[in-house]
Amino acid sequence: MSKKQVIDPVTRVEGHGKITIELDDDGQVEDTQFHVTEFRGFEEFVEGRPVWEMPEITARICGICPVSHQLAAAKALDEIADVEIPEGAYKLRELLHMGQVLQSHALSFFYLSSPDLVLGYDADPEKRNIEGVLDENPQLAERGIDLRSFGQDVIAALGDKKVHPDFAIGGGVTNTLDREAGEALLEQSEDLDTYVRETIDLLREIFAEMDDDTLDYATYETGYMGLVDSDGGLEHYDGDIRLVDEQGDLLEEIDDGEYADIIGERSKEWSYLKFPYYRERGFENGQYRVGPLGRLNAVEQLDTPQANEEFERYMDAADGPVHERSTYYHWARLIEILYCIERIRELLEDDDVYEGIPNVPTKPEKTNGVGVIEAPRGTLIHEYDVDDNGTVTNADFIVATTHNNGAMNKGVRTAAERFVDGPEIPEDILNKMESVIRCYDPCLSCSTHAIGDMPLEVTLEQDGQVLDEVSR
Ligand code: NI
Repeated sequence: MSKKQVIDPVTRVEGHGKITIELDDDGQVEDTQFHVTEFRGFEEFVEGRPVWEMPEITARICGICPVSHQLAAAKALDEIADVEIPEGAYKLRELLHMGQVLQSHALSFFYLSSPDLVLGYDADPEKRNIEGVLDENPQLAERGIDLRSFGQDVIAALGDKKVHPDFAIGGGVTNTLDREAGEALLEQSEDLDTYVRETIDLLREIFAEMDDDTLDYATYETGYMGLVDSDGGLEHYDGDIRLVDEQGDLLEEIDDGEYADIIGERSKEWSYLKFPYYRERGFENGQYRVGPLGRLNAVEQLDTPQANEEFERYMDAADGPVHERSTYYHWARLIEILYCIERIRELLEDDDVYEGIPNVPTKPEKTNGVGVIEAPRGTLIHEYDVDDNGTVTNADFIVATTHNNGAMNKGVRTAAERFVDGPEIPEDILNKMESVIRCYDPCLSCSTHAIGDMPLEVTLEQDGQVLDEVSR
């Protein structure tokens, strides 16, 4: 006899997923699953299409992260065409990417997670949203809105459209940035670094006052992965893939094209999300985390001054060589927001983004190309095989949320074992179960290659019988 509890849908995450908690005869947690129930096969869909269409087509995989897919596809095309893109194009792609990371992180922190942090996990669910934050701390909510708008405006200035910019193409980008637009963005960004640093101070205060049940309910060991530059610094657009262990010690640092040598993927029948793992350690012990926490645990420094200062304060606060708390994803995310603002300003002050050569001509030279970037949620991999005419014969995507699948499942398990006792889940515990998932800011529409937003759920079951179910 066993019971199951299902959280369905998990709210305030991007996409649709479901948490199932199975109880044994004594009402104790026997098993948990975080699973994803919608599926649409984008990899199959692109087979037979001209590879040059990939930046535009794959941007439609997800309404939340179109820019990330566009850039990963464009990088793969550069490889297939065997071209080095011009300096200006490189910087313009990075600028687009920084706008995307900024707006996505601002959405995650201010809109989706700050309600729990500012109002409390046990606050009235009706008020636990961005409107509630607007009532409680209007300045914080307004700054969140300003930060997100700025990221969106950077994207819009480059691609004309906020959601699906057709900007990155094989061989470069479609056009350079208009100087007036660049100057307007510089002006718009003036106070944003101060906003973020004040928000980091606020978050540190919130963390300092949290009890262990709130701060440490999803703390556990994993490996960590992210791109790094040649000095081991934070990289979002380019660089080598670095994987470190639970102590922060180097396991691998490889060219992005060799990702398949170290990453294996396993399927489970109850989830459409695959489970990537570090091959060397095997499926059971090979979990690693990506995204803000994964990246900051993998890098040695950040190459912008204010973000690096915050990074040092952040690392000083760790109990060991790395941060294991899932809740610290929020802190790492804010530090990356600061990095994006500083990087955007540097790029906007660079003449190359206004006067550089936007692109070089391309034609198929190779039959395989891999594009890897650090999307807001973590490492995003696109790989294409093409025939001599440049038609896609095979495509493989590993999106950020998929890398975190094992870790998110571990988080749900850890939280359930700590809090769930008996056939019902109190509202604040239910919210904590969901918020483990929110730390990772999963994009489920992306990871299942499904289109559009879908909700998420929790169910409690015993012996196949549903005892409690929450859908909201
Ligand atoms: Ni997405």
